[in-house]
Amino acid sequence: SVEDRVEDLLGRLTLEEKAGQLTQYFYFGRPDATDAVEVDLDSLPDEQRQFLEYPAYVERELHAGRVGSLLFVKNAAQANRLQRQAMDANRHGIPLIFGYDVIHGFRTTFPVPIAVAASWDPDVAEQGQRVAAREARAVGINWTFAPMVDIARDPRWGRIIEGAGEDPCLGGAMAAAQVRGFQGDGGPESLLAGPKHFAGYGAARGGRDYEDSDISDAELRNVYLPPFKAAIDAGAKNVMSAYMDLNGVPASGSRWLLTDVLRDELGFDGFVVSDANAVRSLETQHFARDLTDAGARAVHAGLDMEMAMYDAAYARLPQAVADGLVDEATIDLAVRRVLTAKFAAGLFENPFVDESTTASILGDSTHRDVAQAAAERTAVLLKNDGALPLRAPSSIAVLGDLADSQRDILGPWIFDFDVTESVTILDGIRRRAGEGTRVEFAPATAVATRLFPSMFDAHEAGQLPRTPEGFDEDAELERAVALAVESEVAVVVVGQPQNMIGEKASVSTLDLPGRQLELLQRVHATGTPMVVLVMSGRPLDLRWADANADAIVQIWYPGVRGGDAVARVLFGDVSPAGRLPFTWPRHVGQVPMVHSHYRTFQPEEADKRYWDEESTPLYPFGHGLTYATVEYSDLRAPSSIAVGETGTVAVTLTNTSEVDSDEVAQLYIHQRYGTSTRPVRELKGFRRVHVPAGASVDIEFELGPDQLRYWSAATRTWVQDATVIDVFVGGSSACELTTSLEVTA
Ligand code: IFM
Repeated sequence: SVEDRVEDLLGRLTLEEKAGQLTQYFYFGRPDATDAVEVDLDSLPDEQRQFLEYPAYVERELHAGRVGSLLFVKNAAQANRLQRQAMDANRHGIPLIFGYDVIHGFRTTFPVPIAVAASWDPDVAEQGQRVAAREARAVGINWTFAPMVDIARDPRWGRIIEGAGEDPCLGGAMAAAQVRGFQGDGGPESLLAGPKHFAGYGAARGGRDYEDSDISDAELRNVYLPPFKAAIDAGAKNVMSAYMDLNGVPASGSRWLLTDVLRDELGFDGFVVSDANAVRSLETQHFARDLTDAGARAVHAGLDMEMAMYDAAYARLPQAVADGLVDEATIDLAVRRVLTAKFAAGLFENPFVDESTTASILGDSTHRDVAQAAAERTAVLLKNDGALPLRAPSSIAVLGDLADSQRDILGPWIFDFDVTESVTILDGIRRRAGEGTRVEFAPATAVATRLFPSMFDAHEAGQLPRTPEGFDEDAELERAVALAVESEVAVVVVGQPQNMIGEKASVSTLDLPGRQLELLQRVHATGTPMVVLVMSGRPLDLRWADANADAIVQIWYPGVRGGDAVARVLFGDVSPAGRLPFTWPRHVGQVPMVHSHYRTFQPEEADKRYWDEESTPLYPFGHGLTYATVEYSDLRAPSSIAVGETGTVAVTLTNTSEVDSDEVAQLYIHQRYGTSTRPVRELKGFRRVHVPAGASVDIEFELGPDQLRYWSAATRTWVQDATVIDVFVGGSSACELTTSLEVTA
């Protein structure tokens, strides 16, 4: 059995070899076979020299048997070469496991994760990650640092784009679907999945990346942990620990979090990897005395593998044992988990990747089709005064430089893309509009990302958009306005460039960057109907647009075929049916803002809490329009159920329009009284269903202990109260169709 093989191997490893199995290094090598450096290293600035010397550093460690895993190898020949070296270097022939950030596609870029969440369709998530796993595996990657399942309730935080938004129910469904997609049947086209970042990273104070989180036990269990639980229940083999302090203890050094909660409460039995350099950071965060102490405390906490750039703390574990800081038995436990994962990945049987299949898998055009279908399901129609769908206009002005950016449409967190494959919004509209429609473009603004070779270079170059040389923005704005005047409709693309969101990309304002608001105002003043497309991974301040534009569509960063997908939505080939996975504030001063807030003293005045702004959001959680009109009726629920029993809530959806469309039906509850107070509304179920024109569809939801139990701050236990539950069903968190049911003791 696997257990016997693991025990046998473990029994033959020295303490140094065990520490090696627990160490993972980055590998930023050149993809050719030798990684030979042909420049005079001494002539280079420190940073460049270190970068070029880095592969040699890692390979020295590899030869010394001090590496159990590498991340960022993304070339099949290179993976095989490094695997051969690693297996030759350790006397037991233990293979490396290759990890990578496969976040929203590998070669084929899918819509960003927050967009996929906006589809409210777990199948979209599952199918996308299935394709991503196939492609990544084709270059030798075995394991992905995804899905990111952090609940994010503060849109200033850049990593809101990588998760499923504010809600644990939607987040849990998306987390489980992605794990199923990545891990599939565990066969040769699968990746191990690693939900991250455990736990509470999304609550970073002020939305500032890496800052500490302060989360009550109840909020942690009711809001932040459920998506992890869902991912674990779906079989995730790995979990990544977070960087930040949670309630005063770094997450990567917290035994309570990584063992008591993760393993004992949530039932996780896979291996835990640190976030990059998070173990070293235990010293920097003034928690550990030195690196040896950091390694000892992390492994004791339950962190099995250290992800490091240089000089891993885990290389000091033999010293830590000698110093009495940690037992060898604790290290054995971690090694056991890592070796078990290597067996699960099939590495002992098949350590090498078949290089002859790589090109055909990466080139498989059906993967791009799946990405386009996903993008079509992610668009959220925020507002429509009837300007959409477009009705064969004779001319369209496409305005805003994001409309023509092959890089921005892909979003952040991708490394192996081919930017020339991107179909921009402009390309998509041109392709779809056909002969009879004149499509003219003016960039108007200077917002789009210049073509940075990688995310890291983008960071070096600064987050903020820079005006390209020779770009006269005043003149370009005039040209855009003139084009709008001449055209039947203006499609204006606004938003943030992709490098303004993601890791280390928090913002202090949600304003449209640069002169985009001015562009909108000037186009509107021409009187030409204006459709606004918002390319972003977080809500932006759309108060003016909401009051003045004829239609607004949130298109996110829709991926490699995003332009085709968006064009099909604009022209009505498909009805948009995505819904917001977060509450859209009016202004940054309102954040954090969620649909599942609590009732307050004087609840009748709850929408008047600010002196200078409404207290309500611009768009509620779950909001999204379609080209159809779907009515909800006949809400049925049992008048009572007993604690522990499950009842069925049913509703009828009727499409009273002449347009076929999907509809996302959402079930919310509110508990009227109990052991603790509960939010005014909590999402407890949802279904995206197709409702043909004129048709009615009945749908059902379950309501029982899985939906009604919560962790009570009053009793410090899980409880289900005998109480009265208000039930709401409809197309957003502001839906009004309601009934109630009694839960009896
Ligand atoms: O997986 C990521 C993590 O989400 C953030 N820090 C770096 C890791 C490896 O790239």
